[in-house]
Amino acid sequence: MTSMFAPARINRRTAIAAPLLWLAARLAPGQVIDPRTRDFWNGKFKDPKTAYRRQPSPLLVESVRGRKPGAAVDLGTGDGRNAVYLGLQGWQVTGVDLSDVAVAQARQHAADAGVKLDAVVDGLDHYDFGHNRWDLITLFYVHAWYEGARPRSTERIREALKPGGLLVMEGFAGEEKFMFQTNQLLRDFDDLRVVRYQDTMDEAEWNPGRQSRLVRFVAEKTR
Ligand SMILES: C[S@@+](CC[C@H](N)C(=O)[O-])C[C@H]1O[C@@H](n2cnc3c(N)ncnc32)[C@H](O)[C@@H]1O
Repeated sequence: MTSMFAPARINRRTAIAAPLLWLAARLAPGQVIDPRTRDFWNGKFKDPKTAYRRQPSPLLVESVRGRKPGAAVDLGTGDGRNAVYLGLQGWQVTGVDLSDVAVAQARQHAADAGVKLDAVVDGLDHYDFGHNRWDLITLFYVHAWYEGARPRSTERIREALKPGGLLVMEGFAGEEKFMFQTNQLLRDFDDLRVVRYQDTMDEAEWNPGRQSRLVRFVAEKTR
């Protein structure tokens, strides 16, 4: 039966459903992305004034020098500065990030450089890292996700590395919960062979021009 309240009911339903439909339309099947985090990072990558190092990480460059290229995944790839570098060195690279804006930039940078990049828009809690899948796993300035998702983040990274595979991480360290805690990566990955561990004050790639406390960590999964 038609009622004078029906239009109001439809409007209320529409008001609730519309944002959900909008969100669903933006996600490919299978993606699970936190919209607030996505919007935060989309804003950063849309803003040309966002200050970060556009070139590949010196830690990564040093860590893979002389290493036989294989399958690599860059977790939280951002604009692909490190993923594209790996592609240029002959690695088969996958970059994963929840920011569709960042991933679009990564795809563009890969195309400009003439390298193949499998760029995936997905949240790291949802993306399947796989088992014994990667010769190289990189995680640059994604300490907040790593910390928030521990201990599963540690376990999933360890499981996903192939025997002989390399893990390279860099990010902010400090007392705050979202930063790497003192000696924590050494404890988390105590079954890997640590190639390099540095807890130091230096210019951070995501806080250029200032000194920040950083952790740099490189470790290999023993065969
Ligand atoms: C500080 S930026 C670092 C980007 C890149 N690794 C670099 O060093 O240039 C952090 C990146 O992690 C991504 N990120 C944060 N949380 C994530 C999550 N839960 N899943 C996927 N990506 C995430 C952000 O979208 C952003 O691109």
